[in-house]
Amino acid sequence: MNREIRSNFSRIYDRYAQERDKRGIAPWKIQERNRFLALLKDERKKTLLEIGAGTGRDGKFFNDSGLKVISTDVSSEMVRLCRKKGLAASVMDFYNPGFLGESFDAIWALNCLLHVPKKELPEVLKGLRAVLKPTGLFYMGVYGGSEFEGIWENDFYTPKRFFSFYPDERIKEVVAGFFEILYFKTITLEKGEPHFQSIILQKNGNRDSE
Ligand SMILES: C[S@@+](CC[C@H](N)C(=O)[O-])C[C@H]1O[C@@H](n2cnc3c(N)ncnc32)[C@H](O)[C@@H]1O
Repeated sequence: MNREIRSNFSRIYDRYAQERDKRGIAPWKIQERNRFLALLKDERKKTLLEIGAGTGRDGKFFNDSGLKVISTDVSSEMVRLCRKKGLAASVMDFYNPGFLGESFDAIWALNCLLHVPKKELPEVLKGLRAVLKPTGLFYMGVYGGSEFEGIWENDFYTPKRFFSFYPDERIKEVVAGFFEILYFKTITLEKGEPHFQSIILQKNGNRDSE
């Protein structure tokens, strides 16, 4: 992603951080977190990297549930809110997860990778794969269901944000280039709006571990 788009995101989300922090959480997001947590507990996973963490709402949930969490975001205001909740948090661009110098049992990425231009998603997925342990699990939640890339004209943020949306079969093809798909489900939200794609992935121990 070019530097300008990225610094735009940090500025936009700095501006909306306080407002986002006051919001409640939708029931379907609670179910998403619970499902992933149950899998992590079953598989005895201990460490979790959160990317595009936002206010730390979910990082706190996983932290309070006994995982060792590092929450990261490109917006310093979001990172400040994560720290305020007692989380270990760093300003980090998800294009460069190696920055932390650690590998993790799991990654949680809710509604952040939808800000990546399509030609750059493979590079980001490859970088995330590289910081996962061999059988590491990766939750990726994004909006999609149709083909779209660009500024979302219905966005209620100012300035309007950049999004990439994929049809279900296409997003599966893209992630399957880097991970094994353990789970894929769609959740219908508002009529006429993109639906949600809930994806749980695993780093496949048989592939090159670059
Ligand atoms: C729609 S919000 C979602 C936040 C949180 N995951 C949630 O579900 O509430 C997207 C988040 O991704 C972050 N973000 C956007 N581009 C990023 C990048 N290149 N690296 C890290 N974080 C990024 C934004 O700052 C923002 O906090």
